[in-house]
Amino acid sequence: MRHWLSTQAAGERPPRMATGPPSCPRRGWLMAKRRRTDYSLIADSYDRRYLLNRLPGIAAALHRLLDRLRPAAVLEVGCGTGRWLTECAGRAPRVIGVDPFTEMLRRAADKGETFHLVCGRDTPLPLRDHSIDLVYCVNAIHHFSSPHGFVIEAARILRPGGTLAVVGMDPRRGAAQWYPYRFFEGTFARDLDRFPAWEEMNRWADAAGLVPAPRQEAERSYARFAGAEVGQDPFLEKEACSQLTMLTEAEYAAGRRRIDTAVRAAEAAGRSLVLETEIIFDLWSAVKPAESRPVIGGGRTSSG
Ligand SMILES: C[S@@+](CC[C@H](N)C(=O)[O-])C[C@H]1O[C@@H](n2cnc3c(N)ncnc32)[C@H](O)[C@@H]1O
Repeated sequence: MRHWLSTQAAGERPPRMATGPPSCPRRGWLMAKRRRTDYSLIADSYDRRYLLNRLPGIAAALHRLLDRLRPAAVLEVGCGTGRWLTECAGRAPRVIGVDPFTEMLRRAADKGETFHLVCGRDTPLPLRDHSIDLVYCVNAIHHFSSPHGFVIEAARILRPGGTLAVVGMDPRRGAAQWYPYRFFEGTFARDLDRFPAWEEMNRWADAAGLVPAPRQEAERSYARFAGAEVGQDPFLEKEACSQLTMLTEAEYAAGRRRIDTAVRAAEAAGRSLVLETEIIFDLWSAVKPAESRPVIGGGRTSSG
């Protein structure tokens, strides 16, 4: 067995074999605060999305980052089933994944790669100051309890010269192109609340002593459905994305009915309703200067 799963700080301690994933501390807190996706319920089906689209642009962006930085230690926060950890394995001597759901970590452990898995959350990060060269997350920051706190924590654990990278979408960019926003009530407003704007990330990074780098587009996914074809969209399944997973059954059913009604109304008018999805995934990053400057506005400061 080449994995370990832990609720402990990963720090510098050697990998420890575990007989099974530990229960995650403060799990109730995770689900209680506001509408959250319960990944314990969808861990088994989560990787189906990657059979449909492996998001090769994100993998390539991650490879470019790893090739450029040549990091000794890499941490993915919100690593889920390990899709991106497998891209890092073999490209960095030490690869660590943190996630609060043991069911997701179990799927990551099944992938048979050499990485360390830790049950934990975005804040506080279970790692020591100045211990990591690359901290990243992919499509996860909108789930974090404190995206701002995460930036502060990343600044703490990064070694001078290290990089924080966040891959994800900003619903403010091309929002009109994800058609479910128009049919499932509250999804767009909730996403505006959940996803930090990149400009806000720049401000948080700057206040935490990190220097934001130019943002890059990593991936663009496009799909188009005409009329009743939309029923075949795999990303319309309730388990396919957090926007739909977090709806109640009644809210989800109401959205599906709105889509059916719109398709039938168009057909009755002799037209075919065209529904489009275009999602842009950006790679945002910020560097911790080799000479750390003092952190403004709280958070733990680095001791040099
Ligand atoms: C959409 S999944 C992304 C998983 C993986 N990064 C990927 O791209 O396949 C979001 C992940 O964030 C995790 N997550 C939820 N709340 C979190 C928190 N407070 N801190 C860290 N991760 C969290 C979930 O368990 C889930 O694995």
